[in-house]
Amino acid sequence: MMGSSLLLAQFLCLLLFHSHSQPAHSSSNFSSSVQLCPRDQSLALLQFKNSFPMPSSPSTFPCYPPEKVLWKEGTDCCTWDGVTCNMKTGHVIGLDLGCSMLYGTLHSNSTLFSLHHLQKLDLSRNDFNRSVISSSFGQFLHLTHLNLNSSNFAGQVPPEISHLSRLVSLDLSSNSEELMLEPISFNKLAQNLTQLRELYLGGVNMSLVVPSSLMNLSSSLSSLQLWRCGLKGELPDNLFRRSNLQWLDLWSNEGLTGSFPQYNLSNALSHLDLSYTRISIHLEPDSISHLKSVEEMYLSGCNFVGSNLDLLGNLTQLIELGLKDNQLGGQIPFSLGKLKQLKYLHLGNNSFIGPIPDSLVKLTQLEWLDLSYNRLIGQIPFQISRLSSLTALLLSNNQLIGPIPSQISRLSGLIILDLSHNLLNGTIPSSLFSMPSLHFLLLNNNLLYGQISPFLCTSLQYINLSFNKLYGQIPPSVFKLEHLRLLRLSSNDKLTGNISSVICELKFLEILDLSNNGFSGFIPQCLGNFSDGLLVLHLGGNNLHGNIPSIYSEGNDLRYLNFNGNQLNGVIPSSIINCVNLEFLDLGNNMIDDTFPSFLETLPKLKVVILRSNKLHGSLKGPTVKDSFSKLQIFDLSNNSLSGPLPTEYFNNFKAMMSIDQDMDYMRTKNESTTYVFSVQLAWKGSKTVFPKIQIALTTLDLSCNKFTGKIPESLGKLKSLKQLNLSHNSLIGFIQPSLGNLTNLESLDLSSNLLAGRIPQELVDLTFLQVLNLSYNQLEGPIPLGKQFNTFENGSYEGNLGLCGFPLQVKCNKGEGQQPPPSNFEKEDSMFEEGFGWKAVTMGYGCGFVFGVSIGYVVFRARKAAWFVNMVEDSAHQYGKRLRRKNAPRNGGRRY
Ligand SMILES: *[C@@H]1O[C@H](CO)[C@@H](O)[C@H](O)[C@H]1NC(C)=O
Ligand SMILES: *[C@@H]1O[C@H](CO)[C@@H](O)[C@H](O)[C@H]1NC(C)=O
Ligand SMILES: *[C@@H]1O[C@H](CO)[C@@H](O)[C@H](O)[C@H]1NC(C)=O
Ligand SMILES: *[C@@H]1O[C@H](CO)[C@@H](O)[C@H](O)[C@H]1NC(C)=O
Ligand SMILES: *[C@@H]1O[C@H](CO)[C@@H](O)[C@H](O)[C@H]1NC(C)=O
Ligand SMILES: *[C@@H]1O[C@H](CO)[C@@H](O)[C@H](O)[C@H]1NC(C)=O
Ligand SMILES: *[C@@H]1O[C@H](CO)[C@@H](O)[C@H](O)[C@H]1NC(C)=O
Ligand SMILES: *[C@@H]1O[C@H](CO)[C@@H](O)[C@H](O)[C@H]1NC(C)=O
Ligand SMILES: *[C@@H]1O[C@H](CO)[C@@H](O)[C@H](O)[C@H]1NC(C)=O
Repeated sequence: MMGSSLLLAQFLCLLLFHSHSQPAHSSSNFSSSVQLCPRDQSLALLQFKNSFPMPSSPSTFPCYPPEKVLWKEGTDCCTWDGVTCNMKTGHVIGLDLGCSMLYGTLHSNSTLFSLHHLQKLDLSRNDFNRSVISSSFGQFLHLTHLNLNSSNFAGQVPPEISHLSRLVSLDLSSNSEELMLEPISFNKLAQNLTQLRELYLGGVNMSLVVPSSLMNLSSSLSSLQLWRCGLKGELPDNLFRRSNLQWLDLWSNEGLTGSFPQYNLSNALSHLDLSYTRISIHLEPDSISHLKSVEEMYLSGCNFVGSNLDLLGNLTQLIELGLKDNQLGGQIPFSLGKLKQLKYLHLGNNSFIGPIPDSLVKLTQLEWLDLSYNRLIGQIPFQISRLSSLTALLLSNNQLIGPIPSQISRLSGLIILDLSHNLLNGTIPSSLFSMPSLHFLLLNNNLLYGQISPFLCTSLQYINLSFNKLYGQIPPSVFKLEHLRLLRLSSNDKLTGNISSVICELKFLEILDLSNNGFSGFIPQCLGNFSDGLLVLHLGGNNLHGNIPSIYSEGNDLRYLNFNGNQLNGVIPSSIINCVNLEFLDLGNNMIDDTFPSFLETLPKLKVVILRSNKLHGSLKGPTVKDSFSKLQIFDLSNNSLSGPLPTEYFNNFKAMMSIDQDMDYMRTKNESTTYVFSVQLAWKGSKTVFPKIQIALTTLDLSCNKFTGKIPESLGKLKSLKQLNLSHNSLIGFIQPSLGNLTNLESLDLSSNLLAGRIPQELVDLTFLQVLNLSYNQLEGPIPLGKQFNTFENGSYEGNLGLCGFPLQVKCNKGEGQQPPPSNFEKEDSMFEEGFGWKAVTMGYGCGFVFGVSIGYVVFRARKAAWFVNMVEDSAHQYGKRLRRKNAPRNGGRRY
């Protein structure tokens, strides 16, 4: 008793003295007064901070560092920003360095660990460069709060964490994917941390931890976040019954099973997220009352049992409801109109049919309405403007018709408007262009027509009006949208006029796609270097004249450059070598008069080079750089006047064409808020084909229609992943290399109109995916091989070779020289291909630069149709939207809602 009152007196005294000497508690001038902070601690702090001399890049963990009071030697560290001291002892007991741009390894000998008195430590949102979490953290025996969220730690969580038996809050979420928590460490932690109330382990690999051991966690636990932890097995339903548990996040543990209990639930639970788990949840009249305390319920991609969705209308306490990706079908339940408190409603991707129910427009608290990726029909009700709190209206990928109601513009807080991929018609209400808060205006892939109104809303950052029927000029006001990051106006009914150089004032532009319109005039030279962040520049399919912009600044970030299908002339500027991140270059179908731009070989990431249909001439000299073109997967020089031998040395470097990549991913830019899916137009199996997506496995080599001479090199047989090889319309001599029989992925082989002689090698019979074969107009002779694919090709594949004989030609082979007799299972095999693979032989006879038919791209791979849709919205608006969500801390990672 005495002791404590003495302490209190001392404390008061200190406090008085303290406030006296430092009246406004703001001055950091303590040099003339008593210092609270022991010197060893201020040194430790300074040394700790100085061990991270380089700032982290702001993009690693985006956060906005607050203005910091500088840490200055000789001043009292208790006044430093982020430092809290015990007023009695002067010990540093709190350190908040969240979002301080620390970058580098956190070693176990760091002076940080000498601050033994720490009670609260926050190092979140820095970049510790995949350091392991040191076992020295176990020395902070007084710690009650430890926050290492989003700091790029990796390796094993040390078992010593369990020494921190006073911990109330532990946050290790959102670190490197390689951060791992072993069962033994988890079990110790569960046993020893008996005070724990908040445990955040989102994204920590806990795949070996048995779900039942979660029951050992402290009974005081009120918040538990275990999203994307790789948990597998059955979750005990008693976890849901813990009387103190308020917040439970288990999303994206696809291997987690169990069921949500129907009785004896505690009424504490207010936030429940079981999205993308296999935990079943019963929606039945008897069980629904057990969800009565839940205010935020996320059951996306979930396992519903008994799906009387009308019952949801009884959960009138709901504030957030996420039911995405459930294929619920039927109409959107009318009863949802009873959820008057609802702020967030996510019903995307559920195959809902019918119109948007009237009842929804009564939910006047709604801030987020997502009905995208369904099969909704009818018009957008103009009453939607009653939802005056809306920040996001997502109706994309439905079958909505009619005009866009101009009343939408009354939603003055709207940030995201996504009506893309519908059947909306009429003109775009001009009032949409003057909404004060709008960041995203996504109206692409509709039937909208008319001119584009002037843009008066200055907050716009993302505009996509592609694939409509708009015409006229781009209103100059668009160039005043200072924060614009994406502008896509491609494929309309001819937008016209010049591309003004004022566009170069859009310093933040990342994606500019004006392709397939009627723009004319010159390309402003400044387009090469106006925005360091520019990733995509697509001006293909217009009427642009003049030279290719020649200024590309060093350090630019361009990935996709497409000027195909204009009337550009002159040469290919060598400054393109400054675009070291370039993956895609398409300058085809212009009037470029140049030799082959061999400097391209210095671009290490180049995957696609298309220079077809220009006036390129001269021969291709071998590579000068070791790894030149090693990532190339599409190389198209067709329809030029290139001469000399085939570029054998380049072929030897085409590493990407040599290895079979099973990657089903496709080429695109990936960044924080926009995804741009690369598209390309190719001559594919004889047709002009638009590929709205380019799969990593799409590989083609097209040198047709040039003046190449000499032989086909044997080394071509190494390019095993090629799907299409076209050397037609050159002056190649010699025989067909048997090594081509090694190109077992080939779907199309065209060697027509050359001077090739000799027999067709039997090895080609091994090309079992070959759909198109054209050997016509050569000087081939002898029997045509038989078997497999060769039973399906028709006369046209061989015509113009006077010496060939045997099936399918009428000319019989001489005895002794004859074809192999058709195999006895000929019929069977043939029908197997018809049925099993679903394609027919295609015969061709087309000339240079002549293609027939335009097919819009189903990419057929081994008879599997890769479904496609260009989906910018999912990846941009939604991700962006998540950052806008005001409340709800644990919303990082993954696409979810
Ligand atoms: C600290 O305060 C003293 C006296 O109050 C003053 O003389 C001195 O200049 C101050 N130093 C700084 C760095 O402000
Ligand atoms: C971060 O890690 C990388 C790869 O391990 C290393 O090359 C780099 O030097 C590290 N940076 C710092 C500042 O430690
Ligand atoms: C701490 O350890 C690292 C590597 O183990 C070493 O590079 C560094 O010099 C050490 N720092 C101190 C202050 O001892
Ligand atoms: C549990 O915490 C105490 C300190 O409170 C510590 O001495 C002990 O080693 C810890 N046990 C484990 C298994 O970590
Ligand atoms: C998690 O760890 C397990 C076991 O070490 C490993 O097999 C698995 O690939 C890891 N998961 C992820 C997503 O890294
Ligand atoms: C749901 O609400 C309706 C009317 O609002 C009521 O008649 C019904 O009994 C409720 N059902 C349950 C299971 O609570
Ligand atoms: C819009 O489409 C609807 C049918 O989908 C049609 O009835 C209407 O005439 C069209 N309106 C305009 C302005 O094109
Ligand atoms: C074709 O492949 C086989 C086996 O993969 C290899 O032995 C042969 O050398 C290759 N032929 C050519 C010409 O590349
Ligand atoms: C962890 O940090 C991320 C930001 O990187 C934030 O979104 C999330 O809410 C934090 N988690 C917790 C539990 O605070």
